[in-house]
Amino acid sequence: MEINIKEEYKRRYDIHLKEPHQIKGIKKCGDLLMSILNQVEKMIKPGLKTDDINTFVHKQTLKAGAIPAPLNYRGFPKSVCVSVNEVICHGIPGDRVLKDGDIVNVDITPILDGYYADASKTFFVGTPTEKGKKIVRVAAESLKRGIQTIAPGATLGDIGYAIQSYAESEGCSVVREFVGHGVGVDFHEQPQVLHFGTRGKGVSLVPGMVFTIEPMINLGKKELHVLEDRWTAVTSDGSLSAQFEQTLLVTENGWESLTPYAL
Ligand code: MF3
Ligand code: CO
Ligand code: CO
Repeated sequence: MEINIKEEYKRRYDIHLKEPHQIKGIKKCGDLLMSILNQVEKMIKPGLKTDDINTFVHKQTLKAGAIPAPLNYRGFPKSVCVSVNEVICHGIPGDRVLKDGDIVNVDITPILDGYYADASKTFFVGTPTEKGKKIVRVAAESLKRGIQTIAPGATLGDIGYAIQSYAESEGCSVVREFVGHGVGVDFHEQPQVLHFGTRGKGVSLVPGMVFTIEPMINLGKKELHVLEDRWTAVTSDGSLSAQFEQTLLVTENGWESLTPYAL
């Protein structure tokens, strides 16, 4: 059993446990990602066009010898996802101008030396509103609680349960249509990491698993629809939505973030 976990996870779940050299590569990509995301954070202010974020992320990625994974991914036309207010995820950068009180998620995925890391943060534009403060706080805490359940022997259901029970206790809702995912040698690998679920259910976590947790939390109802552009997902009730994402490694003792930032 022990010695065949890697084969077992591949065969049963199509989950590719990562070798130390691969983890190194993903971590290096994660460091690049975080340096770009931290620079984006400093740019965010009223008057900035969402396409200006795309231009910056695109240039910085190429300058580092990396490739922006979103560009042309299943037809996505830009190098980064920028999702404002009621946009849940997959916002396409364009002519929308950020205004005081908006919230904006920036989701970056570089490919460096063939390795992928995936992370996002939701930022305040200018002075936050009370509703903005609440949804950003709950989304950040949701990711934090999901991460804190990670350890060998815990299950994917434990992660989903921790997120869902917390977010709903705050009167918010969890989006069901988009999930976290294995990542590292490809953009979206197995397993799917649901942000809702039941304790003890789902695949058991083992060292070497690398996956994202990226809860999308709505201030109102969980329902969404996708705009005519076939990408932009918005809340059906028009309520605010926020998201935080990191790339996590399961270790012998718990977890390590390969795209670390404080929550
Ligand atoms: N970065 C997103 C995720 O967290 C995926 C974006 S797909 C794109 O999985 F094509 F919109 F970029
Ligand atoms: Co992701
Ligand atoms: Co992402």
